[in-house]
Amino acid sequence: MKLDDTYYWDGPLPETQGPASAPEPWGETKVVGKPIVRIDAFDRVSGTAIFPSDVVLPDMLHAAILSCPHAHAMVKKVDTTEAEKMPGVQCILKDGVVGTNIPWFGGGGGFASRLFDTHARYQGDEIAVVAADTIYQAWDAIRAIKVEYEILKQVTTVEDALKPDAPAVREGGNKIPAPAAYQRGDVAAAFKTADVVLEHTFSTPYELHNPMELHGCVAKWDGHHLTIWESTQGVYAVQATVARALGLPLANVRAIGHYVGGGFGGKLDAGKNSVMAALLARKTRRPVRLFVTREQECQSMGNRPGNTITLKVGAKKDGTLVALQSSVVGSGGAYSGSGTGGVDYVIRELYKCPNVRCENQSAYINAGPQRAFRAPGHPQGAWALEIAMDALAAKLGMDPLELRRKNFTGISQSRDGNMPYTSNGLVRCYDEGAAAFGWKEARARASQPGHIKRGVGVAAGMWQGGNGGPPSTAIVKLFSDGSANLNLGASDNGCGTKTWGAQIVAEELGVPVERISVEHADTGTTQFATPSGGSKTVPTESPAIRAAALEVKQQLLAMAADHLKLPAADLELRGSEVVSKSDPSKKAALGQIPAFGRRALLVGVGYRGPNPAGKAINPFAVQFAEVEVNTKTGEIKVLRFLAAHDSGRIMNLKTFQNQIFGGITMGIGLGLTEDRVMDHKQLGRMLTANLHDYKLPTALDAPADKTVVVVDPHDTECNTTGAKGVGEPATIPTAPAVANAVFHATGVRLTDAPMNPARVLQALAALKPAPKGQKGGE
Ligand code: MOS
Repeated sequence: MKLDDTYYWDGPLPETQGPASAPEPWGETKVVGKPIVRIDAFDRVSGTAIFPSDVVLPDMLHAAILSCPHAHAMVKKVDTTEAEKMPGVQCILKDGVVGTNIPWFGGGGGFASRLFDTHARYQGDEIAVVAADTIYQAWDAIRAIKVEYEILKQVTTVEDALKPDAPAVREGGNKIPAPAAYQRGDVAAAFKTADVVLEHTFSTPYELHNPMELHGCVAKWDGHHLTIWESTQGVYAVQATVARALGLPLANVRAIGHYVGGGFGGKLDAGKNSVMAALLARKTRRPVRLFVTREQECQSMGNRPGNTITLKVGAKKDGTLVALQSSVVGSGGAYSGSGTGGVDYVIRELYKCPNVRCENQSAYINAGPQRAFRAPGHPQGAWALEIAMDALAAKLGMDPLELRRKNFTGISQSRDGNMPYTSNGLVRCYDEGAAAFGWKEARARASQPGHIKRGVGVAAGMWQGGNGGPPSTAIVKLFSDGSANLNLGASDNGCGTKTWGAQIVAEELGVPVERISVEHADTGTTQFATPSGGSKTVPTESPAIRAAALEVKQQLLAMAADHLKLPAADLELRGSEVVSKSDPSKKAALGQIPAFGRRALLVGVGYRGPNPAGKAINPFAVQFAEVEVNTKTGEIKVLRFLAAHDSGRIMNLKTFQNQIFGGITMGIGLGLTEDRVMDHKQLGRMLTANLHDYKLPTALDAPADKTVVVVDPHDTECNTTGAKGVGEPATIPTAPAVANAVFHATGVRLTDAPMNPARVLQALAALKPAPKGQKGGE
């Protein structure tokens, strides 16, 4: 996949203007940072929050998609004669029906697929869609559609896809031209100067996002105006995609996404389903609800590519890294034009190392398209790098934490000009994390007799994004009773966007959080925002919100100063009055301030200004795990976990911790349980397209004992709120921290994720020998 700082947006982005004068950095804050409960917590837990999948409209139809059951086939004929006669069926769309010839999945070499492509390239490719009065009728009709397929040979591994006689997933061949290798220094020469060289091949599973709320929407037309209630991370992305597909003015497409039941990157963009719902609704002149099934979610709605990563590490005896060399192989499925990316970013960036070379190879395979997935590439890269660092420490007889500290760097080595970071709290994460975890004591504990072995491990991480940036526009309105409204376009993915947004308004205006309502994620009524993702929602939106609140405050205090004949600096908003700080008897109700009264409310518009030039902005994390390994069954239990994070200033301690707990749980999934299994040698179908076989970690897999250590280096440079992101860094070092703890517990070095019981037992039985020339554990 394409992976620059704007991977969440397809196309150019506007710049919003900088604030007229940048506000001073916050010192001590009264509301910002406090662990207040989400303002929509009651709605969420009581079931009264209306998620897009809860939307029911009068006269609404229900739609279902017919997915190709074969891994690779040509669609010869789609016979809907019987299906059209089925009770309740109102409309069937398939290739050839007027209005469906919509380009989709473009790419290099002139490749262009369509909404319904007659070359079905994976099990799950869309063949037809039915709208009926009930969802049962829709599915009955789907089963009555007769499709004639010419089944083709499939290929579902990169290794097979690159063989000369491999079936062609795409007409132009399966090999994606490899991007130029990343290179700095001279690795070949540097490896010769190394005292120690280790090489391992690591693998990570293809992971499925599996958000609890499936992908889908409800679409409704009013004349030429379309409204879509979509489960999305970005309403403006939905608006853009649907408007482009249907040839509509942007102004005619209103996308609303007030709640979203999980996205993790898989809902940054609109999928085919949104366009299909809009088409069906237009043809039938009735609202249409189209949500995919869990099986379709797994097959068609995105994945994190699995990767094979060969990593070679060279170091001096004292632990100084001299060279890193990686070779990454993976696939973004049948349609992702740039394959798999972002894997080597941590390898290039996390540790001081003058000689680095990273190569990447991707190929098309007959599997569903990858989609951005929480820190694209980074958990895979960290799995390799952080286990290799642990192995290097073992080889050198060093404490793994000490090895990492030794190779700290304060500059961004992979960016042009080796720019410094605005802040880098990594060393504090090492030190404060280790102290809070009791690292030294836990490391020193003797191995226990018996078959249950306990150990601790550490891993570090950084995230390529998390900086935020323009554009963002926020609006704050202050009403005459002292209540306020915050208006912003960003989605609240469940991470607390609305809540910390209200906290910022409360901080600046002095309006209590309970008196603030938030209007968001609606292209009809809110401002442009990029999708909520990239760990950038806080650093992108918070400065705009702060600027909007300050704008209202300045107007209000100027009006009040004029009326009360007092300096503005002496005034503040208390409830529905402006009061003199020095003499509280001098005050005026908002409605009695003439300039305010004439307007009835005040409006402030705030923009997100640019980031500082010549500086890198990134969040950092160090995570510690304690595990128990049952050497008879191969089971790994994570007993406790500590995450030390530098995300700059945090907006809400509770939602910050929650975000990290979620990231840890997801990382445990990568490390222990999750794996998309395909029957590569037989039909090329997915064997794990449900929540029984695809093992998301549950409450029983995540430790109850979880601690977050907040490291805030007071970044006053990155933006006007000092915030960096946390959503993605939270899941980057988790799995290798667990793997390293397993090594500490057992002396067995696992390099394939997930570390399921079968793999653990095989490794314990030494069925997997150490790489040539290396001892076990190195
Ligand atoms: Mo994220 S993968 O930008 O939601």
